[in-house]
Amino acid sequence: MCGIVGYAGREAAAPILLDGLERLEYRGYDSAGIAVVSGSRALQVKKSKGRLSELSRLVDGGKSIDGVLGIGHTRWATHGEPNDVNAHPHLSQDGKIAVVHNGIIENYVELRDFLCSKGYVFQSETDTEVVTQLLAYYYAEDNDAFSALYKVLHRVEGAYALGIICADCPEKFLAARKDAPLLVGFGEGANFIASDVTAIIKHTRDVVYMEDGEVAVITADSVDFFDAMEEPIEKEHKTIDWDVSAAEKGGYAHFMLKEIMEQPEAVRKTAFSRIRDNRVCFDDLKIDEAYVKSVSKIYIVACGSSYHVGVVGKYNLERMLRKPVEVCLASEFRYSNPLVDESCLVIVISQSGETLDTMAALREAKALGAHILSIVNVVGSSIARESHDVLYTWAGPEIAVATTKAYSTQLVLLNMLGMYFGDILGTLPGEEYESIMAELLLLPEKMERLLSNIEDIKRFASDYFNHNSVFFIGRNLDYAMGLEGSLKLKEISYIHSEAYASGELKHGTISLIENGTLVVALGTYAPLFDKAMSNVVEVKARGADVLALATEKNLAEMKKTVENVMVVPETHTVLQPSLGVVPLQLFSYYVALLRGCDIDKPRNLAKSVTVE
Ligand code: F6R
Repeated sequence: MCGIVGYAGREAAAPILLDGLERLEYRGYDSAGIAVVSGSRALQVKKSKGRLSELSRLVDGGKSIDGVLGIGHTRWATHGEPNDVNAHPHLSQDGKIAVVHNGIIENYVELRDFLCSKGYVFQSETDTEVVTQLLAYYYAEDNDAFSALYKVLHRVEGAYALGIICADCPEKFLAARKDAPLLVGFGEGANFIASDVTAIIKHTRDVVYMEDGEVAVITADSVDFFDAMEEPIEKEHKTIDWDVSAAEKGGYAHFMLKEIMEQPEAVRKTAFSRIRDNRVCFDDLKIDEAYVKSVSKIYIVACGSSYHVGVVGKYNLERMLRKPVEVCLASEFRYSNPLVDESCLVIVISQSGETLDTMAALREAKALGAHILSIVNVVGSSIARESHDVLYTWAGPEIAVATTKAYSTQLVLLNMLGMYFGDILGTLPGEEYESIMAELLLLPEKMERLLSNIEDIKRFASDYFNHNSVFFIGRNLDYAMGLEGSLKLKEISYIHSEAYASGELKHGTISLIENGTLVVALGTYAPLFDKAMSNVVEVKARGADVLALATEKNLAEMKKTVENVMVVPETHTVLQPSLGVVPLQLFSYYVALLRGCDIDKPRNLAKSVTVE
């Protein structure tokens, strides 16, 4: 949520900041702003409600602002509606300090009252302005921005990634982090900060990830890091190895479509690098066989689509391991006094590796003594760094807010974990292991086949894009997959949609089915195909328009009841959702396209949810 960028160099800062913000816009896009300090020690702050293009117009692409050092922000509103005043950067009352912030200051009311009592007048409704004015308050004591920052950090409670410039020191800016992502990039005669590496990858691949409690002082030629005790520290540099083009649209109309199309390759990269001689090999895991045998219970903890991967995982891991697996929403888990102890393995799933609820759940489970194994896409992210074990999904940068390729790579990795553990425990018979492996090796190819013929899906989208209410129904793995299909549709097309376990419909929800209600009937879970069909017949009898999903093998049978059917190749049962989800992603994409929605940046959402 919210994107931050900062630059100190020798070129005009404003165009560089705007370019960085464009790449961070997926993190929040209700308003944006930049602050640049010029050599004459003047702070120029420009901000605008709406998309970054508005800001860019306002400052003529950055040309109307001079100065070689500045900070920028793209906002996802928490405190105060999205408008020009609440947009960042916030400027202190004395006009000397400008601040961009990602996160939430929890004790901002108390701090604002304190500052009001000292005569400060607030312009905005934001928690960030409190940080800005408090900095100005302490700066006024001895004109030392660095010590003022530490005094502020001792008083604020909550989460922050901060970028701070001060008119009196035009050659440097400050950065601080706690519970919100922030990295420093080292360029040639220029240094940067950013919420995520996409903002600066075109300038440098040499980065340092800041840790909680750390502060950085950045000039064009130097970066100095300090710990929470104000002591200088050395930090380890990381080299970003992915290609700049991975974060470009590459000819596609939307990142989402590009990322859907990238799934075969992403799955190939994630899975095949961990298969040797037809066996799953996790060289990247620290846990050993004895540990796996000692685990009493597995928890899977995540949010949103990552949670949906966990729901598939619960079915598949219990089947392969014959151990109890509980899948939990991270936001619920952390406050539920969970029954976790040293004998539990907690699998944390997160694309961004920065989701605050997931992070908090991880810390809770870790404090209770569990071993934390995370499945994460963003290398070096907070969740990855705080876990005992990490398995990276090699999906590459995912820019569209609605996840697709990260979901698919998480799913394949969780299934592989099931195979790996099942093999150790002896609960997955050899024959079954081999048959899953054979299909795993064919999965990317089958995905490619699926993606090469999407005309029917486009046609179904044009048949149904005007519906206002949609139910995704299915049993077992189809139900788990329906959760994701339904979320995809609602988040990008704004159509009300729900996923239901088919058998549960008759216990209440079937009363909502009337003439013309769209029901997407998922019939790819072979063991319960007949049962699923009887539920399809029930909704049809009540007037539902049915769009079905079936495997090639069951197509003819499905066609006897439903005219419009999306088809996927057959694979091993546990892997079937990896294929089934693809038409659901495409259906949502084309429905949203026909409804004229902003597909990559749906309203009210942001890619990385770093607030509670
Ligand atoms: C939906 C979506 C979200 C995320 C959720 C968790 O398309 O992307 O539901 O899955 O916000 O995010 P991560 O995986 O980054 O922890």
